[in-house]
Amino acid sequence: MFNKETYIQRRATLRSKVGSGLILIPGNQESPMNYPQNTYHFRQDSTFLYFFGLDLPGMFGVIDVDNNHDLLYANDVDIEDIIWMGPQKSIAEQAFAIGVDVTAPLEKLAQTVERAIKAGRRIHFTPPYRAENQFLLSDLLGIKAFKIKQYVSLALIQAIVSMRSVKDAEEITEIERACAIGYEMHVTAMKMAKPGIMEQQIAGAIEGIALSKGTGTSFPTILTQNGETLHNHNHSFALEAGRLMIVDAGAESNGHYASDFTRTIPVGGKFSQQQKDIYNIVLAANDKGFSLSKPGVTYQSVHLQAARVIASGLKELGLMKGDVDEAVACGAHALFFPHGLGHMMGLDVHDMEDYGQIHVGYDHEVRPIDQFGTAYLRMGRRLEPGFVITNEPGIYFIPALVEKWEKEQINAQFINYDKVRSYLGFGGIRLEDDILITDNGARLLGNRVPIDPAEVEAIVAGIES
Ligand code: GLY
Ligand code: MN
Ligand code: MN
Repeated sequence: MFNKETYIQRRATLRSKVGSGLILIPGNQESPMNYPQNTYHFRQDSTFLYFFGLDLPGMFGVIDVDNNHDLLYANDVDIEDIIWMGPQKSIAEQAFAIGVDVTAPLEKLAQTVERAIKAGRRIHFTPPYRAENQFLLSDLLGIKAFKIKQYVSLALIQAIVSMRSVKDAEEITEIERACAIGYEMHVTAMKMAKPGIMEQQIAGAIEGIALSKGTGTSFPTILTQNGETLHNHNHSFALEAGRLMIVDAGAESNGHYASDFTRTIPVGGKFSQQQKDIYNIVLAANDKGFSLSKPGVTYQSVHLQAARVIASGLKELGLMKGDVDEAVACGAHALFFPHGLGHMMGLDVHDMEDYGQIHVGYDHEVRPIDQFGTAYLRMGRRLEPGFVITNEPGIYFIPALVEKWEKEQINAQFINYDKVRSYLGFGGIRLEDDILITDNGARLLGNRVPIDPAEVEAIVAGIES
């Protein structure tokens, strides 16, 4: 948690941006795993964390814009809670730590909201993503739960996005803590990438690092030799010499900020020439993405430049053909690079995605491109100092996609399908860094996880640590 001034200032800024009404910010509740008392790891809602900082279930924040004050609704523990949970700080004490001096039990919340509705005041809230909060808002507002999302406040979303997009120094420090843990996770995975070891053993070892140094992983770990499946969460195979293992994993710091890195590792410690050729194209795309990232440029244009590096590298290898710019304009590169270059990162690994990606990654000026591949770009708008984004190009050989495109002769003027077929079974390569946009460019967050192919080979082989 940061100092109370941080939260006081954030709520004041939000009040001035939203202008009028009552802002509802529900915290998260415990979520049962298989019976009510056996719950998932508790994760506080990120909007609540940003404005109210408290990391406990069963809290509800209200920012009263019209009357210029903030309230925390939550119940004090009773003796039965103390028996099971130990002594707890009172809600008033907790509220004091974040600069809120009005608290009330949860049962009073309904009255507050009802009064505001009766007075014709605007009620602002962001889209709930958990059923519990969807039903709670439904009850409070008298709107059917399945219709709640139609009533979210665009003014609130836009105000919060404008604030959370720009990370301040204390947030960057937290993100760099998450990056330091992520660094250790990835180097550990490299050192363990020996034939015969189970993917699960490596996944468990690196998730253990995330848990021992922070609050765990920032998203479910991708660690697989079948990296052509982009979000592959299966860890059930034994490592085989000569294959590639993708590790896309990150940590959450104790202050709940994320890191998100991907590296691709040769099992046993030696890239084949074919693997190295593809690896170097992805590395060049990553370097291009980083070098172009600076204030004023759109990330959509950076994505398209990275796509051109990929198309031109694949052309040199004989996998693509024709004019590179035309190929990218037609979306031909997306056979190999079917996802976006990156996304915002902060309290959430895909920061603020609960508000709706269109409000986070796009604006009136930069609209999404509705073309296979580029349509998955989560962040397209102009970069500003303080933005934290990921830079994660990749090349994959996805058998079902190759088969479909070849059968339908999609972009056949740009793709040598005969040659592409000979790469099926290759898997995939993705290389992901986290970057901060500075006043005149960008800098990597954390020490760069080893990425040079010779350095990665040496770490896997145990020659370097
Ligand atoms: N870990 C998912 C992603 O990189 O976006
Ligand atoms: Mn990732
Ligand atoms: Mn990512």
